[in-house]
Order: sequence, then C-alpha cells, then structure tokens
Amino acid sequence: MKALVWHGKRDVRVDTVADPTIQDPTDAIVRITSSGVCGSDLHLYEVLGPFMSEGDIIGHEPMGIVEEVGSAVTNIARGDRVVVPFQIACGHCFMCGQGLHTQCETTQVRDHKMGAALFGYTRLYGQVPGGQAEYLRVPQAQFGPIKVPQGPADDRFVYLSDVLPTAWQAVEYAAIPDGGSVVVLGLGPIGDMSARVALHRGAGRVIGVDLVPERLERARANGVQALNLREHDDIAETIRELTDRRGPDSVIDAVGMEAHGSPFGKLAQQMATLIPDSLAAKMMERAGVDRLAAIHLAIDIVRRGGTISLIGVYGGMADPLPMLTLFDKQIQLRMGQANVRRWVDDILPLLTGDGDPLGVDDFATHRLPLEEGPRGYEMFQKKQEGTFKILLQPAAV
Ligand SMILES: NC(=O)c1ccc[n+]([C@@H]2O[C@H](COP(=O)([O-])OP(=O)(O)OC[C@H]3O[C@@H](n4cnc5c(N)ncnc54)[C@H](O)[C@@H]3O)[C@@H](O)[C@H]2O)c1
Ligand SMILES: [Zn+2]
Ligand SMILES: [Zn+2]
Repeated sequence: MKALVWHGKRDVRVDTVADPTIQDPTDAIVRITSSGVCGSDLHLYEVLGPFMSEGDIIGHEPMGIVEEVGSAVTNIARGDRVVVPFQIACGHCFMCGQGLHTQCETTQVRDHKMGAALFGYTRLYGQVPGGQAEYLRVPQAQFGPIKVPQGPADDRFVYLSDVLPTAWQAVEYAAIPDGGSVVVLGLGPIGDMSARVALHRGAGRVIGVDLVPERLERARANGVQALNLREHDDIAETIRELTDRRGPDSVIDAVGMEAHGSPFGKLAQQMATLIPDSLAAKMMERAGVDRLAAIHLAIDIVRRGGTISLIGVYGGMADPLPMLTLFDKQIQLRMGQANVRRWVDDILPLLTGDGDPLGVDDFATHRLPLEEGPRGYEMFQKKQEGTFKILLQPAAV
C-alpha cells in the first residue's frame, strides 16, 4: 500500500510499504478514506524528530471502511463506516473506566513511562503505524472505532478522531462559568474549534489570539474577538483592558510547545535536532525544550482563581514555570491528551442532528490525495495558501 512515511526533519514521503494484517483477535483493518493532518504532526515534522525513526508511518486522525476484523471484534463488521480515535484504548481497564482513555492501562507504553499508545506518534507512544495511509491496522478494535452513519461526506465525522473531542475537553477542563469569559490562545484547528465549542456551550465572551491573519478572520466570522499578537505591544494589558482589568475566567492554551516569541526554547529545540538522535532524545527528555510564550501568557492573564486548560502539547522536562504566580493567583490548571471516547456521546448529536452547529462541513481548507501529503505538510507548517486544515484522501469512497 501507499503511506506517508517519516524520513527526517521536514522530510515526509509517500512510500510503498507492506499492507497491514490482522495480528491479534482484537485487531481490525480499515481502508482509509480521509485522514487529517494535525498540529501534533507538525511537532513530529520538526522538534520531536529525535523520537522518530526513519520509516515510521504517521497520521492519527483517520476514518474509513472496515475491511476485516479479528475474531474478538464483534462491535463492527466488514463494510461499516468508522472513525478511529487517535489513542488506542481497551475500554475495560481501570483508567478507561474513569473516562481516562489516554491513560489506558492495557496500552500504556511502560518502557518509556508514558500513557496510552497513540497512532503514528513517536517511540514514546509505542511507534504504532499511523493512518495517513491506504490501510490501517487498528489494535483494540473491540472498543476504539466509532461507527458513523453512511451518507454525509467524511468531513461530517472525521474530526471525531481528534479535533472535536480535543476541543470539547479543552472547554470542559476550562470550566468557563455560564456567560463567563475565555481567552483562546492559538487559532489553529484546535483553538478555532475550542472557540466554537465554548460559544456553543454558553461562554459569554470568547477572545482569541493568533498571528496568522486568515486565522483571525476565520475566528471573527464565528463571533470571536480575535487579536493579532503582532499588533499589540503588550497583549496581556490589552486583554486585561477587555476584561474589567481582572482577566478572563478561563484560558485555553491551544498553542503548545512551538509557540512563537520564545527565543530560548527555540534555540534549545534547534540544538536538539542538530545533535545525534540518541543524545538529542535524552536532552529532550531531560531538559526543558518547550517554547513557553503561550503558557506564560496564560498564567499572566487568567484572573485570580481562574482556570487554565492546556490542550496544546508540551513535552519538556525542565520547563521553568512561575510557581509564585501560579500559587499566589490560585490558578487551577488542567491538561492532557484528549480522551476521545469520553466525549463522543456529547458530540455525536451535533453531527447527526439538524444543521451543522460547529461548522464541520466547511472546516477543512484542503482535501488532497495522499500523494500530495508532502506538499501539504510544507504548506501547513509554513501556513501558506491559507492552509488551515488538510484532509488527506487515500482512497475515494
Ligand atoms: N491535547 C490533545 O489531545 C491534542 C490534540 C490535538 C492537537 N493538540 C495540540 O494542539 C496544538 C494546536 O494544534 P493545531 O492543529 O491547532 O495546530 P496549529 O499549529 O495549526 O495551531 C497553532 C496556532 O498557534 C498559533 N501561535 C503560535 N504561537 C503563538 C503565540 N505565542 N500566541 C498565540 N498563538 C500562537 C499559530 O499561529 C497557530 O495558528 C498543538 O500543540 C497540537 O499538538 C493537542
Ligand atoms: Zn491530531
Ligand atoms: Zn484501557
């Protein structure tokens, strides 16, 4: 089959690789019809290189048609249309029972002391072949795949794999009081969808921050008061002025480890990607290499007693954080990878009911054949041609 394969920093290619096969009774094989490219993939493309191996198949936002199931898989059958969550979870362990599927005790990557295995996401998360490919082997398929109705275009459902539950959890963890205010840092797909979910769920005021003009425009069109980081010398002051000088009730950080405006972290990240992989991986695991501009801004602006929800991915081990401010302001801090199946029942009615309240049908800006994946990654990283969300389409339905 054809698959998008990682070869090195900023080097992904479409290669011919072996077709996946059923290995365990709990496996399924899915023929992929759409597969999102995520901001998390951009971390692999650049700073998380030391944790990748040449030949890794990437992608964790897939959907498609079930081709084959193992003998223990009874919830889905050949021909079903399914969305595959980005994490691999068993559905029956203690953690899955708590709705903490990204901590699944059956698939935790214990060699690296990490949580549940993820599709297409580094050695730290199990080095499981990902879904930007024609076919995908889905472990724990007796639980993971979400069956969706035939009919509407893939756009309707594909974001159930990641963007929608991630945005939903971001808002849930942000604990915005009814009618309260939230600032969303970063208006990429995750921040943009978080803003939509926050408004849908009754936030009184949503302020967004980014530095890409089209992204700001897009958010404004959906009722977000969007501020361009580059147009404000002191963005924290601007936000305080907009929020009774107190700051917003909640802040969602949808930027993560590659924030603009963090010179030290950038240098450390560049060094880590230049030295040999084994050393670089150690350095990344032990040293703080995140670019912290977004989380520092979040801590600065959130009101006293307010909540910060970190949904952007961080990975440094020695990141300096202002404990004095965090403690003195009595800030609540929640974070983590999204527990996809935890939120699906809340979200599905918004996809199968009347209208399109979250605007998923027009969410993607680019639908590309798998062959154009390498160009897609470059456009998405450089934010060229208005690239916002790319769906790769390995096989037409
Ligand atoms: N927790 C989860 O389960 C989960 C799931 C999916 C994605 N993510 C993470 O969410 C983050 C966003 O993903 P995405 O797909 O929207 O990616 P993205 O890279 O398109 O979005 C990031 C946005 O942040 C903006 N930005 C950069 N620096 C900024 C700053 N200092 N202040 C404000 N905005 C800034 C960028 O211009 C960009 O628009 C990534 O870190 C990704 O890894 C987490
Ligand atoms: Zn993703
Ligand atoms: Zn589990």
